[in-house]
Amino acid sequence: MNIILLGPPGAGKGTQARILEEGYGLVQLSTGDMLRSAVASGSDIGRQAKEVMEAGQLVSDEIVIGVIDERLDAPDTKKGVIFDGFPRTVAQAEALDKLLPQKRLSLNAVVEMAVDDDLLVDRVSGRYTCAMCGEGYHDRHKLTKEEGVCDNCGSRSFTRRPDDNAETVKSRLAAYHEQTAPLIAYYARSGKLKTVDGMADIDEVTRQIEHAIRR
Ligand code: AP5
Ligand code: MG
Repeated sequence: MNIILLGPPGAGKGTQARILEEGYGLVQLSTGDMLRSAVASGSDIGRQAKEVMEAGQLVSDEIVIGVIDERLDAPDTKKGVIFDGFPRTVAQAEALDKLLPQKRLSLNAVVEMAVDDDLLVDRVSGRYTCAMCGEGYHDRHKLTKEEGVCDNCGSRSFTRRPDDNAETVKSRLAAYHEQTAPLIAYYARSGKLKTVDGMADIDEVTRQIEHAIRR
């Protein structure tokens, strides 16, 4: 099963992708995570992406499509993938439509996670992530069971993303509405679009996604 999670910054794409990875044995392909790794490693792609990401704008289609093209050649993607944060422009969606059959893969569903803009700033500004395993948390909506200790791996080291400040979130939201939201109509035309209520609590969103992808 190959699915796309489509939604604005803070919609819960990463949170749900990790839950689906565990529940269904799928592999999360987050272009945001891949680009952040590239920035951290100081690679050519990372150097080109760094400022664009810090400004809350979209990295070029060429770079992102290249990253996904290469990643889809890894054998683990045969288990099925969850695209998290890709595609984000119509050009990326068209490129994916060409890439998937070349890799003998097909798309089962596109899940739109609908969330009001007002909620997103709160979601994003309260987010923090385990520096060791990447598990995501929130200051108010998803706490660690033991204060300061990751539930998943026991690490005591956490990070916050440099683009998770109110000003950059506004640019990211603007980029979403201008460049990514047109994909809702794009996938509605293909009959693959399912919409879930991304404002519900985390467990309820998971239930709605499971229902949507089983249909
Ligand atoms: P990316 O990393 O993809 O960021 P994003 O799309 O802005 O989305 P986020 O990761 O911020 O949110 P999320 O939906 O994963 O939410 P999360 O689950 O963490 O991209 C970053 C940058 O990289 C882009 O700005 C761009 O520059 C570049 N980029 C990436 N892909 C690209 C592409 N394809 N093309 C071009 N450029 C690209 O949840 C957020 C918080 O809310 C967490 O704290 C979580 O615990 C909490 N939460 C989650 N669900 C709920 C819930 N239901 N109720 C309450 N709290 C919840
Ligand atoms: Mg994410």
